[in-house]
Amino acid sequence: MAETEDLTQLRAILTNASGDTPLANRFRALFSLKSLGKDGINEAIDIIGEAFKDDSALLKHELAYVLGQTKNVYAVPTLQNVLKDVQEDPMVRHEAAEALGAIGDKGSLDLLKEYFEKDPLEIIRQTCELAIARIEWEHSKLSQVEILENSHFSSIDPAPPLPYENSSVDQLQNVLVDQSVSLFERYRAMFRLRDLGTAESVDALITGLHDPSALFRHEIAYVFGQLCDPRSVNALVQVLRNESEEGMVRHEAAEALGSIATDDVMPVLQQFLQDKERVVRESAVVALDMFEYERSEEMEYVSIPSASTVTV
Ligand SMILES: [Fe+2]
Ligand SMILES: [Fe+2]
Repeated sequence: MAETEDLTQLRAILTNASGDTPLANRFRALFSLKSLGKDGINEAIDIIGEAFKDDSALLKHELAYVLGQTKNVYAVPTLQNVLKDVQEDPMVRHEAAEALGAIGDKGSLDLLKEYFEKDPLEIIRQTCELAIARIEWEHSKLSQVEILENSHFSSIDPAPPLPYENSSVDQLQNVLVDQSVSLFERYRAMFRLRDLGTAESVDALITGLHDPSALFRHEIAYVFGQLCDPRSVNALVQVLRNESEEGMVRHEAAEALGSIATDDVMPVLQQFLQDKERVVRESAVVALDMFEYERSEEMEYVSIPSASTVTV
């Protein structure tokens, strides 16, 4: 059992019980709760679920993301309700659908198919398409026979990388940008390019930032946050500066810059603390906190209290 006082403290921080908890601290509490949810502590899942009452789309989309990363089926009903709530911010609903795909429970297929067919928003339909394909792949024979190279990245992604044999950057880039190929296959090329992690594969990924799909562009920006390669900084700054770009994509660019944390990034992020779009302003806050973290000697991005000090 996790110690009740730790969960109580994490709940108070995440739900901003005091009314003046800095957003960055709430994110840190969320990452501690993620580890507990992953370890099967369902109370941590309940606390994360409770925070969907908040009015920050940025925080709520992160709650959904984290629930997916726990791979804990106990989170499925909460995520299904978020997807069904059409009043909810699309970025949050998108992340809920994606998280259902990450958990991989076949019981979510009917709901995902329903929203794949009927949702008026492209980002929701496309996310459902990917989540369906991911769940079907996870339960397929193909997933057992494909040889995937071990990834340096521990995230559960919306699609697995393409198998080992498809490793030429040119070949992968062709799949990445080919609008006639399924979105799932194009995502698989994206994650294979990420896993290669070479200068050429980063350049190939940059071309994906011009894709017609906002969902696709935001995922490319997310991948750059994982890669932390300074080669992607200029392209990400351009995305962040482009006010006609979707908030969801600019948000992902801001957070990726916070992870890359090169010297030129900090002043750029500071400019966006006053952006017109709330999700961009808040992303700049979180990104600057990540920047501090990348520059500090801390061992992990959790501190209040560290997940490793919680008795399970
Ligand atoms: Fe997303
Ligand atoms: Fe995000």
